[in-house]
Formats: sequence, structure tokens, C-alpha cells
Amino acid sequence: MYENAIIEPLKPKKMKTLFNIVKWLSLVVAILIIGFYSFVQLKWDHAWDAPYPEITSSRDSSMIARGKYLAYGPAHCGTCHVPMDKIMEVENGNLLPLTGGWELSIPPGIFRAPNITPDMETGIGKLTDKEIARTLRHSVGSDGRCLIPLMPFQELSDYDLTAVLSFLRSQEGVSHEVKRSEFTFIGKALMACGLIKPEGPKNPPVKDMKIDSTAEYGSYLAHSVSNCVGCHTKRDLKTGAFIGVPFAGGMQFAPDAFSKGLAFVSPNLTPDTETGIMATWDEQTFIKRFKANRLHKGSPMPWGAFSRINDLEVKAIYRFLKSLDPVNHKIEQIVYSQGESLPE
Ligand code: HEC
Ligand code: HEC
Repeated sequence: MYENAIIEPLKPKKMKTLFNIVKWLSLVVAILIIGFYSFVQLKWDHAWDAPYPEITSSRDSSMIARGKYLAYGPAHCGTCHVPMDKIMEVENGNLLPLTGGWELSIPPGIFRAPNITPDMETGIGKLTDKEIARTLRHSVGSDGRCLIPLMPFQELSDYDLTAVLSFLRSQEGVSHEVKRSEFTFIGKALMACGLIKPEGPKNPPVKDMKIDSTAEYGSYLAHSVSNCVGCHTKRDLKTGAFIGVPFAGGMQFAPDAFSKGLAFVSPNLTPDTETGIMATWDEQTFIKRFKANRLHKGSPMPWGAFSRINDLEVKAIYRFLKSLDPVNHKIEQIVYSQGESLPE
């Protein structure tokens, strides 16, 4: 009965105890926050160590030609190391110098592809061969900083790494200042806690790969050069961890400036007759598709760069994909227009 209910006021003694508890709790929370903040600030920005590969650039013209082919073709350096508004130009065959500028803004920070022409002030002119080789093989920048995993070239063969380096050195230096990448507090915290750290090769890189149309060479391209595996495997969008069967598709690409608001899901490339998109494609269809460039506007796949992969190498990729075990993994839809939400 309401009229009988007596709300007893807290006695002064009880009030004091409560106040003390709140006071101490707030103090502990504040110390924890300040402690974590200081830990992150002190810990995130330390220089990482990694061995310097025994790689030296060469002036050999066939070596430089191979490097240029990789940079604007299968390894698609040219799709990122140019200004944002020039990406489509390079994709479509105007091989502009690698003056940097592509930008990716994600919760851990803003990452900007630097100028990698040999300009002394704004490019890689002052870096040694070994520093650049270490960056590509171990994801440790010349200043010891950790590079986030956007360049999965850790297992390039020694020969191909030398070729890329030799091509970079052979370019004309172009002065073009690109702002440095910046980590947000989230990015710094992830680094301080060891959740973002430099990635080295998982298997020892080979000295050289015989270039032919075998599935073995195709596997090398699909894993270590063109990153087909990185985009055609389902991944956790927060951590980047692989959570699906390799090449069975399902990786999601949220809308961004380049995709003009469209979102994408990568298709299943395994030869499953029900859910693998290329199960019925023959070699010629595959080669023709690679020559045809981007069919879906805004697709994140660097189709332009890949249209420059030569037929022999495209065949090798085809044979490798056909040699995979079929995986039944249905991808309902590949392109999502603005306003359509991606599946769970
Ligand atoms: C998906 C986009 C992308 C591709 C493809 C790419 N890069 Fe990068 N690259 C970046 C970004 C972004 C950074 C800066 C990363 C950072 O600051 O954490 C970077 C940094 C670098 C650096 C570091 C320079 C320094 O400051 O020490 C070098 C060297 C480099 N890239 C070379 C290459 C080469 C060579 C290729 C092709 C074999 C390539 N990149 C392909 C995005 C890319
Ligand atoms: C940056 C991410 C990315 C990379 C790298 C990538 N793909 Fe894709 N791929 C996609 C997405 C997204 C689609 C769906 C949209 C489209 O067809 O453009 C796709 C579509 C495809 C298709 C279907 C084309 C069609 O017409 O149906 C094939 C085949 C394919 N990729 C093969 C490959 C191979 C082989 C490689 C490596 C040489 C590769 N992809 C690298 C993201 C990527």
C-alpha cells in the first residue's frame, strides 16, 4: 500500500560508505585508463627489428623489365602508389610514375601509399636496397615502423624481389610529397597489444620460380604476387584474419570512395560445380575474362593491372584454381547497390 510505504532516507553513515566506494572505484578506473593510455603511448611506436634480405638492385635490362611488368601487372604496385584520382588512368594503361597518394581510411588509421620513385626528398632516393627489400619482405619500414598488412609480398622469390627493386631504382625521380600514414588511438592500442605487428614470410621464400603454365607457378602468383587469396577468402573484417576456406570467396568490401558507394563480395573460385563461378569456364574463357578489364564499375579487384598479366601466367593461375578441391560455398550476390545491406 503506497500510503503506508515509508521511504527511509539513507542514514548518514551508510551514505558515507557508499560515497567512499564510489570514490575509490572512480579512482581505480581513472588509474586504469591513464595506465592503459600511457602504456599505449609508450609502447606503440617502437622500432621493430627484422633481418635485412641479401637483395641488391641490378641494372640488367631484363631484370628491370620483369620488375616493371610485375609493378604494373600481377603485383599491381601501380594501383596504389599513384594519386587517388589517377588510379583509373593507370588501370587503363597509362603507366604513370609511382609517386604515391592512394589513401585508405579505416578505424586503425589513415594509411597513405608513399612516393616510391627515387626522388631524394619525397621518394625512396635515400633508402638503401636492403631497407626497401626488408619493407617488402618483413613489413618493417626503413625507420623501423610497422607497416599494416596491405602489401602481401613477403614470399616474392629473391629474383622477383630483386626485379621489383631494380625497376624502382630505374625510374625517374619525381618530387611529390605524400603525407605520412597516421594511426588513431585504436590503431596504436592494437599495435601496443601486439594485434597489429609486422608480417614476415610464413615459408622461406624461394630463390627463383620457373615461369611456365604449371599449377605450381600459378599457386605462386595467386598467393605471393597477385594476392588472389587475400581477396577471395572470407576474412574477419575487424582483424583481417582468414576465417574461410582459401579461394572459396565471401570476403566483403564495404563501399568506399573508389567503389562509388557500391559494396562487393568476392566469388568462390574453387571448381565446385554448384557454387564455384568458374566451374564451367575453359582456359580460353578465363584468359578472355582477364583481358576484358573491369566489368563492374567500382570493383576493388585491380582488373586493369591484371589485364596486363601475360597469357602464359594467366594459364598458370587457371590451372592452379582448377587444381583446388571443390568447396561448396554459395555467394548469393556479388554487387550490392547503395542502401542494400551486406549479408551477416
Ligand atoms: C593495396 C595498396 C598497395 C599496393 C598494391 C602496394 N602498396 Fe606499397 N604501400 C601501400 C601503403 C598504404 C603504404 C604505407 C603503409 C604505412 O605507412 O603503414 C605502402 C608503403 C610502401 C613502401 C614503404 C616506403 C617507406 O616509407 O619505407 C614501399 C617501399 C612500397 N610500399 C613499395 C611497394 C611495391 C614495390 C609494391 C608492388 C610490388 C607495392 N608497394 C604495392 C599500399 C600499397
Ligand atoms: C582487391 C581484391 C581482389 C583481388 C586482389 C582479386 N580479386 Fe578477383 N574479385 C574480387 C571481387 C570483389 C570480385 C567481384 C567483382 C568483380 O567481378 O569485379 C572478383 C571477381 C573475380 C572473378 C569473377 C569475374 C567474373 O566476370 O565473374 C574472377 C574469375 C576473379 N575475381 C579471379 C581473381 C584472380 C585469379 C585473382 C588474382 C590474380 C583475383 N581475382 C584477385 C576481388 C579481388
